[in-house]
Amino acid sequence: MGMVTIPPEAYLARSQQQRPAAEVRAWCQQLEEGNILFFPQTPIALAEDDLRFLLTLEQTSSGLHKNLAYKPQRDEVSGADMKGADAAASERLHRILQEYSQRVTEFLESFLSPYQSRWQLDYGSFRPQEEQGRHLPLRRRNDLMHTDAFPTRPTHGARILRFFNNLHPTKTRDWITGEPFDALAPQFAPQQIALPREQSTLTRVTAKAACGMGLGRVLPALKRSPYDDFMMRFHNFLKENATYQAQGKREAWSFPPGSSWMVYTDMVPHAVLAGQYALEQTYLIAPEAMIAPEHSPLAVLQSMTGERLV
Ligand code: SIN
Ligand code: FE
Repeated sequence: MGMVTIPPEAYLARSQQQRPAAEVRAWCQQLEEGNILFFPQTPIALAEDDLRFLLTLEQTSSGLHKNLAYKPQRDEVSGADMKGADAAASERLHRILQEYSQRVTEFLESFLSPYQSRWQLDYGSFRPQEEQGRHLPLRRRNDLMHTDAFPTRPTHGARILRFFNNLHPTKTRDWITGEPFDALAPQFAPQQIALPREQSTLTRVTAKAACGMGLGRVLPALKRSPYDDFMMRFHNFLKENATYQAQGKREAWSFPPGSSWMVYTDMVPHAVLAGQYALEQTYLIAPEAMIAPEHSPLAVLQSMTGERLV
């Protein structure tokens, strides 16, 4: 497990027709086995003036503290307190994030063609803050090793694939990663990672709030499956496990300025230790699209517990 470097000639100036089927299949397989696919030169380069705009945004809009989310379904940017910024700057930020999302999707439609776009476009984000020394509550810290699970967006077994760009002009983005889920999960005693019989508090609260708001019909989308409950608990369990944080197997990576990478963050434990200015787009890939489904967290958990979890 580790990193697979994709040679630039395999993705720059090469169209879908020129990509051999065996090659694209191998890339999906490598991802599903828990490797990072690394692009030394990003296939999604930003225009020079857009890049400069993003790098100086923080100084021009005082309220910009955290990661900004781009929600493609609603075509909306959230998390940006752009009160200090003018309408033109807000619009420009929106346009840049929208284009990034569309360009990554277009690229992956071809680069990961075996998946045939059987995915749901999830949030994108711009990460303007220096990651080193951020003060966040423990469960929200990204400098602790974890697998990803979204508290408010259960996936019901769909896989979390994330595509990143390091936009920083000079600094690397530094990650550590650990053994993938299929190697890691069996190392813990079943009671440590036992599946809860009950829905989690958050799901119940969310469900109650949704009913109160007359949103009973949207409930199925909010409801977590036992799989989602497990993945959320496992995320917390890893971050709270001091022994794993200190002694778990790990490898270190430095992603240079101008590079991109992608990885299944639901299966590869990861942490970002340093770096500033990144763009990211998330996809929820249908479980049916997997080429090597036996490596998926869902398959691993189902075989460990002997139960259907979605
Ligand atoms: C994460 O998913 O933990 C964040 C990674 C990053 O921002 O580089
Ligand atoms: Fe993460």
